[in-house]
This record gives sequence, structure tokens and C-alpha cells, in this order.
Amino acid sequence: MKKTKLLCVLGAVAVTSSLALTFAVIPEKANAHKEPHDAETLKAFEDAFMEQVVLGDNLFHGDPAAQKQTGVNLSNTGMACAMCHPISSDIHPHEFPKFQEQMSEFATLRDMINWCIEKPNEGEKIDPDGDAMKALEAYMYWSARGSVLDPGRH
Ligand code: HEC
Repeated sequence: MKKTKLLCVLGAVAVTSSLALTFAVIPEKANAHKEPHDAETLKAFEDAFMEQVVLGDNLFHGDPAAQKQTGVNLSNTGMACAMCHPISSDIHPHEFPKFQEQMSEFATLRDMINWCIEKPNEGEKIDPDGDAMKALEAYMYWSARGSVLDPGRH
């Protein structure tokens, strides 16, 4: 009886220490990027981001050169996004994904962008992973910078 108890205790110790080992390893991995970026690297990241924001801004305002550059046609009505959405943060990018009444389905921001391109704009749906979509998304999120994430809100 005593021997069984001892074996149980030993077993428990073995399990606990292997668990402890597992947990000891995970934080190491999670901290892989603990070195802060230097100013030069941060500037390069910001430049890359702002380049997308500017491209998205141009697309949102219907700039033909930006559409040509990214190979898209966002509208066949002559209406640019900005004409119906003069303040792009009013598009509430931080509230996606959510159930979208117009589409009768659960939608991401990218789904909604394509809905507007197809329906009110009568344009051609764009590649959800393409350059134009990434830039439009960058511009909208940038416009709503500082907003609290609130997915699902109406
Ligand atoms: C002719 C007017 C019109 C144009 C042009 C237009 N939209 Fe919209 N957009 C709407 C309407 C109507 C809605 C649905 C009402 C709403 O949810 O605000 C909407 C909603 C949206 C929403 C969701 C807003 C929210 O708060 O749920 C996004 C995102 C959006 N549009 C992006 C775009 C983009 C990107 C373009 C340009 C490619 C564009 N729209 C062009 C009329 C327009």
C-alpha cells in the first residue's frame, strides 16, 4: 500500500516537472522578438505602411493612376468611395467582422469593400488578397487609428 502511494507521488512529480518544463520553454519562444527595433528600422516600417495608406487614399478617392497601378476598376458609375463616404473613419473598420444586413451574412471589412465595389459602384470585385485591397484596408484602418476595437458592433 505504502509502495503504491510512493509510486503515485513519484508519478505526480514526474508529470508536474515535465509540465513545468513545457511551460518553461513556451515563454522563451514567445519572447523571441524582445529586442526593440532601432529608429532606422521603425522608420522603414512606417514608410512602408504610409506608402500603402497613400495608395489606399488615392484609390478611395477614385484616382485613375492608382487603379491602373493596381489593376482594378473600382467603379463604373463615376462615383468614388469618398463621394458616399466623405469621412473614411465613418466606415467603422474597427467594428468588423460583423453581420452585415445588406449582404445578409457575416462579413469582414474586405467582404464589405467588395460589396460596395459590386453594388453601388457597379465595378468589378477585387482580389481579397490583392494590392488594391491591402491598400484600401490600410487607408481605412489608418483613418480610424486610435479607435477601440469593437467587432460585431452596429
Ligand atoms: C453610391 C454610394 C456608395 C459608394 C460610391 C460607396 N459606398 Fe460604401 N456604402 C454605401 C452604402 C449604402 C453602405 C451601407 C450603409 C452602411 O452600412 O453605412 C456602405 C457601406 C460601406 C462599408 C461598411 C460601413 C459600416 O459601417 O458598416 C464599407 C467598409 C464601405 N461602404 C466601403 C466602401 C468602399 C471601399 C467604396 C469604394 C470602393 C465604397 N464603399 C463606395 C454606399 C456607397
